[in-house]
Amino acid sequence: MQKLALMTSGGDAPGMNAAIRAVVRKGIFEGYTIMGIRRGFSGLLSNDPFVPLEIGSVADTIHRGGTILLTARSKEFYEPEHQDRAAARLQAGGIAGLIIIGGEGSFHGASKLEERGIRTVGVPATIDNDIGGTEASIGFDTALNTVLDAVNRLRDTATSHERIFVLEVMGRSTGHIALAAGLAGGAESILVPEMEYDIDEVCSRLLKGIERRKAHSIILVAEGAAGAFKVGEQIKAKTGLETRVTVLGHIQRGGTPSAVDRMLGSRMGSFAVDLLKNGESGLFTALKGEDIIKAPLKSAFEKKPFSEDLYELALVLAR
Ligand code: F6P
Repeated sequence: MQKLALMTSGGDAPGMNAAIRAVVRKGIFEGYTIMGIRRGFSGLLSNDPFVPLEIGSVADTIHRGGTILLTARSKEFYEPEHQDRAAARLQAGGIAGLIIIGGEGSFHGASKLEERGIRTVGVPATIDNDIGGTEASIGFDTALNTVLDAVNRLRDTATSHERIFVLEVMGRSTGHIALAAGLAGGAESILVPEMEYDIDEVCSRLLKGIERRKAHSIILVAEGAAGAFKVGEQIKAKTGLETRVTVLGHIQRGGTPSAVDRMLGSRMGSFAVDLLKNGESGLFTALKGEDIIKAPLKSAFEKKPFSEDLYELALVLAR
């Protein structure tokens, strides 16, 4: 029986387990033996043994956040000599194809193995939702709902105390989480790395809202746009309004995956097996409209465009 290998890599994302489950069960259905590589590229480079995955190995996992295969960020894997070593290990292990579930960095790793003759397919999973060529990545929807839950809770206390709240969310270099949560949560201002902001304008929007007796004000800040504590201090200094800061941090990465992420993980994991079965490689599974399609790994390296239209809409609606 031919062997397929599977790993999760980079930051974990809710729904990764649904994708693992789909690869394992669809792969076995298609007659493959499935080997799990634990701890991503780090595990591949260390002598962490590959783990055979049976149908029962993924029982009771679809509703769990995180990844049962564990994950890591590997600096070592950036070096060509280690990429050679990893490819050699996969070849020696008789691996006919590799599925990598992760974000853009993981896909760069996948393409390095592809160049070395390993058949690879990527499955996009990152709460940042910043992978080009796909309308969605596994984990974003769950993280967004976690942020919205936090916004709702902050609104209650913001209203009761008539305070301004600054909420920092993840997104080192992209503001997709902040934008979507800002639009869906009715934030007064949204600060993202893609758009320049003017703190005076942020303050004048706040003051206008208060003038019309707005009961609460939430400023959403993507971590890559500005430090939330600095923004909070600036607002306090410029307006004199009582301001509090919350940094949501890794809470956004955990939790039970939403239905959307479980569906996406299940469909994409299964499609990744189909692609390898059809002899394809150097691709990733992407969402386009209602469909899961194949896209070249390299198209994932162009950052997903930031929607300025949605950004403008959020600001108009939150006046
Ligand atoms: O998963 C992506 C991401 O959540 C970024 O938004 C964030 O900056 C980063 O991971 C945090 O990574 P780590 O868990 O390694 O600190």
